Amino acid sequence: EIAKDKNGVGQVLLRNLRGASVRVSLHGGQVLSWKTDHGEELLFISSKATFKPPTAVRGGIPICFPQFGNRGSLEQHGFARNKMWVTDDNPPPLHPNDSNGKTFTDLLLKSSDEDLKIWPHGFEFRLRVALAFDGSLTLTSRIRNVNCKPFSFSIAYHTYFSVSDISEVRVEGLETLDYLDNLCNRERFTEQGDALTFESEVDRVYLSSSDVIAVFDHEKKRTFLIKKEGLPDVVVWNPWEKKSKAIADLGDEEYKHMLCVDGAAIEKPITLKPGEEWTGRLELSVTPTS
Ligand code: BG6
Repeated sequence: EIAKDKNGVGQVLLRNLRGASVRVSLHGGQVLSWKTDHGEELLFISSKATFKPPTAVRGGIPICFPQFGNRGSLEQHGFARNKMWVTDDNPPPLHPNDSNGKTFTDLLLKSSDEDLKIWPHGFEFRLRVALAFDGSLTLTSRIRNVNCKPFSFSIAYHTYFSVSDISEVRVEGLETLDYLDNLCNRERFTEQGDALTFESEVDRVYLSSSDVIAVFDHEKKRTFLIKKEGLPDVVVWNPWEKKSKAIADLGDEEYKHMLCVDGAAIEKPITLKPGEEWTGRLELSVTPTS
């Protein structure tokens, strides 16, 4: 089902047999909504978000590609999140697990002449967004080098989870890992605590994590599980009070209700030889906690 938002941007709506749903925009290939079968929204979208391209929407799951943050010469987080993607009606076959029992859509971004001027590497980026019967959401990215020379890229699924109160949230799975702290010139530290909790701004890239991370929301009594493949790093970001005030499309108090935890490949960029393809997969699910 393809609809147009009020700015004329195409959006695909996926719904499973139980009534869970996912909405994905052709602008940026960005997931804007992920709802349970009870209609509960699981992703954060700012009340101040602008939905007018080319700016990425503040919330949902923008895709940072081919650069993360300002680690390179491109615009912040790369250009993929600002581009118009198209639906891919004839995608090359994927692993059956990416289709079986799922409702899905395939999107495609190809390097345009304009992209090639700022990043001279021909690529095809295929994104499958799939909603399973149990309500879990999988994003599978396939990035192919269609050029005659190698290139390297970084990628992050910049996932804004909706949380009831950031002070009551705990992230597990990052214990004892090294991380680069964006608030300290990307200096490298080692995580000491049992689990990550939040009482001030956090902007980190955890390195080489295990493939499952859990985000516990005590007040909501629910846990997000993040399973990832091909994405060794995990970004954790909450702007807290002061930084929020400096972000025009984020309400001053909204940092309390969001937490970004991204499956990513940042520290060691991925290199593709001509004709080579890389696959990365992120699976998000939610379970009640007692
Ligand atoms: C985070 C970065 O992942 O994204 C932060 O580590 C940045 O430094 C944040 O502020 C939001 O970025 P943007 O470009 O969407 O405002």
